[in-house]
Amino acid sequence: MENVLERIGSMGIIPVVAIDDIAHCSELGYALIEGGLPCVEVTFRTALAADAIEALSTAHPSLLVGAGTVLTVSQAQTAIDAGASFVMAPGFDHDVVDWCLDKQVPIFPGVMTPTDINGARNKGVKVVKFFPAEASGGVKTLKAVSGPYADMQFVPTGGVNPNNLSDYLTLPFVLACGGTWILKKTKIVNSDFDAITETVREAVQIVMQTRSG
Ligand code: 3PG
Repeated sequence: MENVLERIGSMGIIPVVAIDDIAHCSELGYALIEGGLPCVEVTFRTALAADAIEALSTAHPSLLVGAGTVLTVSQAQTAIDAGASFVMAPGFDHDVVDWCLDKQVPIFPGVMTPTDINGARNKGVKVVKFFPAEASGGVKTLKAVSGPYADMQFVPTGGVNPNNLSDYLTLPFVLACGGTWILKKTKIVNSDFDAITETVREAVQIVMQTRSG
């Protein structure tokens, strides 16, 4: 579990994607690896999520593949069976969190309020997804709600983009940011993987600049 957290923390970004066609998985993985961000969260927003997790982790063993939009224990189980290394959820569901902790699967439950954070913390979760980050008030809200929880780390997701990425990553309690801006559906559908690699490089550049400054 610690290894996954370290890898995510060192990359600083979790690219999020919903896969509509398994044929895209191989090149999509290459684009992430070539661009310098070997990580992807495949969401259960399409019926192909488990197949995509399996295809990506088989084709690219160096890629850290996780499952996103996990709403149920059954989805968490399916994701892990398919090869996912972590589980990301939009909300804080006790059953999903308990199941993942029991199986020693890294779980990032979604939180928006101090009540959510408290609940996750009291189960032993150390890193939570702050969702939906921008719609909830962005950096200002995250600073306020995280205040009482000095031992927690956050993965802001929802509305994060190249313009505000640095603002989030500057916060010492932000492990990484998640978002779909890197793996845009239009680019994937058009097999524009060179453009995706370029977007990945730009994002990595922002992480490096933010952390070196
Ligand atoms: C998610 O599924 O985690 C979010 O919907 C991603 O939000 P974004 O599309 O604003 O990056």
